[in-house]
Order: sequence, then structure tokens, then C-alpha cells
Amino acid sequence: MSTAFVRELEAWKTERLDAIVATGRTSITADAPADATRMLQIALANEISVSELAAAWVATTPEVDVKIAFARQAGDEAGHFMLVSERLGALGFDAAAFQPPVGNPLFEYMRQLPTTVERIAASLFTLESIAYGVNENFMALCAQRGDAETVRIYREYIQPDERAHQELGQRLLAKYAATAEHQALARATAARVLEIAGAARAAAAAKLGTACFPGC
Ligand SMILES: [Fe+2]
Ligand SMILES: [Fe+2]
Repeated sequence: MSTAFVRELEAWKTERLDAIVATGRTSITADAPADATRMLQIALANEISVSELAAAWVATTPEVDVKIAFARQAGDEAGHFMLVSERLGALGFDAAAFQPPVGNPLFEYMRQLPTTVERIAASLFTLESIAYGVNENFMALCAQRGDAETVRIYREYIQPDERAHQELGQRLLAKYAATAEHQALARATAARVLEIAGAARAAAAAKLGTACFPGC
């Protein structure tokens, strides 16, 4: 078990993650033009993309515990998609009109990752921690706007799952990133995900007029 390595990588990741999450935090109090239904459609796109990614890895990841982790994640993210689309329906948006996104650079990068260590590092370990952090900002924005129901859905259902995915990533990385070579690969992959996600979120924030939108 490489728990010392994971602890160190976790601290390194948290520092970099803070930069992404802090940008969103400043948008909570700023004039944010994006409306709730537009932001929840971003959540829909993220949830379906990560569900598809995890599902694609089920068949091609040989280690049984990791295979099952991705299978469970795919189901959880599909559940989040359903929760968000029901909330959108209650807000007057027809979720049936939702078009799954095409050509997202982050998911394109992750999809081609060949090894188990890279997959755990990218998705469960890094992407899930980004999601947890940016969702906290989004919930604060919803709370400020009086949208208690969206906050409740995230607090009671979505965030506990995202936290569990992240912790599963830590445990699996401790188990499988056992050599110096694997640990270097895990670190490089986490760095690349943070880099691509940071750039994608900055570009989306410029388009939306707020950096305070949800992850997956
Ligand atoms: Fe998740
Ligand atoms: Fe999710």
C-alpha cells in the first residue's frame, strides 16, 4: 500500500485545486448572469460524460476491484443525471431536449488513457475532487439565490457520492500506484487533468459570465 505517496499527491492536488475552486468562489457574490437552468444543463453534460467514460472503462480494465469501481461510478453518475434532469423539469426546462455534448477535450484526453493507474488518477482521484469543490461553490450560489431545493439535492445525494468516488480513488491509487514509475505516471496524469479542466472551466466561465457552475 502506497498510502504515503497518496497522502503526498493529495496535498499537492489540493493546492492546485484551490486555484480552480477559488476562482468560482469569487463569482458567488459577483453579478452572475447565468441562470439556474443554464448551469444545471452544464451539470447534465458533465454527469453524462463521466458516466459514459466510467462505463467505457468497465470492459477494458482488467483488475476486478477497479472494474467494479468504474461500474458503480457509471451508475452513480447516471443517477446524478436523473436527479438534475428532474430538477430542471421542475424549473420548466424540458430535459428531453438535452443534447449530449460532443468534443470535450477533457473527456477526450481521459478516454484514451490506457493504464489502470492513469484511469484512477484522472477520474476518481482528480476529476471527482474538482467536481466536489466546484459543486460546493455552485451550491453556495444557489443558496444565495434562494434555490434551496437544488442545494438539498446536491447536499443529500450528489456530493456524498462525489466524495465517495474521490475516496475510492485514493484507496485504489494506494493499492495500484506501487512503483516509482506508476507514481510518476499518476502524478503526471493528475497534473494534466487539472491543467485541461482549469483551462476548460476558464473558457466556459468567460462565455457564461460566471465561474460558479457545477462539475460532475
Ligand atoms: Fe462522481
Ligand atoms: Fe456526479
